[in-house]
Amino acid sequence: MNAYTLSATDNKLMEETKRFEAYIQALHQKHGPDDDDYERILYFVDQIQPAFIPRFRELMKPILTPDTIIGFSFTKPFGYNGDFFIIEKIYQHYINPNEKYRKWDSFFHRLPAAIAVVNRKQMAIDIFRKYQKNAGEKEVKVLILGSGPVTEVFEYLQENPGSTLKFDLLDLDERAIQYAKNKTSQFADKLTFYNKNVIRYTPGESYDLIWSAGLFDYFKAKHFVFLVKKYVEYLNDGGELIIGNFSIDNPSRKIMEILGDWFLYHRSEEDLITYAVQAGVPESKVSIMKEPLGINLFLRIEK
Ligand SMILES: C[S@@+](CC[C@H](N)C(=O)[O-])C[C@H]1O[C@@H](n2cnc3c(N)ncnc32)[C@H](O)[C@@H]1O
Repeated sequence: MNAYTLSATDNKLMEETKRFEAYIQALHQKHGPDDDDYERILYFVDQIQPAFIPRFRELMKPILTPDTIIGFSFTKPFGYNGDFFIIEKIYQHYINPNEKYRKWDSFFHRLPAAIAVVNRKQMAIDIFRKYQKNAGEKEVKVLILGSGPVTEVFEYLQENPGSTLKFDLLDLDERAIQYAKNKTSQFADKLTFYNKNVIRYTPGESYDLIWSAGLFDYFKAKHFVFLVKKYVEYLNDGGELIIGNFSIDNPSRKIMEILGDWFLYHRSEEDLITYAVQAGVPESKVSIMKEPLGINLFLRIEK
């Protein structure tokens, strides 16, 4: 065999690729995948050769537009991944009513990573409830880092309008702050918004709970450690700092990266514990929590 002859493996790969190209065209003709297509698409994405990714994206171009959730991620209308609007679409289980896109949105919501995002919202609500139960009539101060659409707080307050929890909400994106302010205006007396960068912000007080989900996965290890060190100083005695991060076991990682162009720092439980220790927190004060799928991990530090 010389350099210009295809090996049996290459031939097999080409045949498979041709078959998959035809399959994608067929998916477009029927306006997206049905339930029994999901496994095949995910299997293909998991096996994909890096050289085929540009071609795959080309084939998917008709739906890699802001009209679908995956295309919204790919095109980044707000200029970055994981903006408040896409997260809200995930929380609200948004499905584009246009038949050209509808099935692709349904497919997206079935991805384990999308389900894990919804699960983490519920986790936050459960933790707020726990704080309220323990506090009785006393005020509880909560700081949310990278607050985005503020949906967990909004849903919690809808259920508990008399809550004594007071929230400080920090987000770098002014559009996220505006969106969240409008949405939560009925609870304005319990919420204070700060259009600030978590890296530069210096809190003016300390908190019973500091919560952050969907933010630290964008930070390099050194920034992660820096932020833990910084914010742990603003915990009241008995308070908790809880930081979410996607796990290295995220089964949707490849599809997020290949079709969503959505890259995160995925981390193990050991990574998160190591960062806390590097930030000077005694290991006895550190634990790991997970949402039910174990795809979103949470580093929990008690003061
Ligand atoms: C993926 S969203 C998560 C939103 C929310 N925590 C949730 O779980 O629904 C991340 C949010 O963090 C904000 N963000 C990103 N970098 C930030 C920074 N350095 N300081 C403050 N907010 C930041 C983004 O604007 C976005 O609203």
